[in-house]
Amino acid sequence: MPRTTRAAKTKSFLQVANWKMNKTIREAKQFIEQFVNEKVVTKQQIWFAVPFTDISPMKQLVGDVYQIGAQNMHEASSGAYTGEIAAEMLLEAGASFVILGHSERRKYFHETDSSINKKVLRAIEAGLKPIVCIGESFEEREEERTEEVLKNQLLEGLKDVSVNSISSCIIAYEPIWAIGTGKTATSDMVVKAHEAIRSIFEGLYEKKIAEEMTILYGGSVSPASAEELSKSPGVNGFLIGTASLDPATFAKIVTLSENTTVE
Ligand code: PGA
Repeated sequence: MPRTTRAAKTKSFLQVANWKMNKTIREAKQFIEQFVNEKVVTKQQIWFAVPFTDISPMKQLVGDVYQIGAQNMHEASSGAYTGEIAAEMLLEAGASFVILGHSERRKYFHETDSSINKKVLRAIEAGLKPIVCIGESFEEREEERTEEVLKNQLLEGLKDVSVNSISSCIIAYEPIWAIGTGKTATSDMVVKAHEAIRSIFEGLYEKKIAEEMTILYGGSVSPASAEELSKSPGVNGFLIGTASLDPATFAKIVTLSENTTVE
């Protein structure tokens, strides 16, 4: 497979805040007030992946200015699954997307590529855009197995996703060793991984789809790394944890990523 598949040239950069298990409804509202006060002028898309309880109040507050999404869901549409949540519930609360297969879900809640695949298929069927997270561990990178790991995660995680549905999916490349550690992957590492992902997509689907796929980078994105990473070829956006919790820091990242070309 060729290693040169690049992202399409014109695409607005996508900033996804992943708040994880942070912010009560009151804190979420306060964040938005402060973020709006930062007066960021941008052509980028800004999405917030928030705790379930924040979805509806956030949607009511921001309307269509920002998209609101969830960080997980169950693969069934309803039923006896105490403590779980279904795609339809998220949609009705105002979510338009859902993060699936985050490495914290894989690590702490034993999610596998095959369980993630069921959720991906369900999300697409229900009309929620999945952001599918993939990424290698430190050991896997040391053993030069990064591409193999990414390929397996994509092959299994996106199994049976049709050529018509794949365009509603977003991929987040998040090397596990970079998440929440302050260790950002270098631009070179990110570019190589994103190219590898596009090549895998070209093999699975077709070149046009591979080129147009939105691929985010996540892992300790901060004001220190945002500008260089946002300019890196093939990087279409960020998935941001820690640095998205503070309105001024998040606004700074958006500003630093403005005027980026993706190729
Ligand atoms: P981080 O988290 O920015 O704190 O590394 C990213 C993520 O887990 O999505």
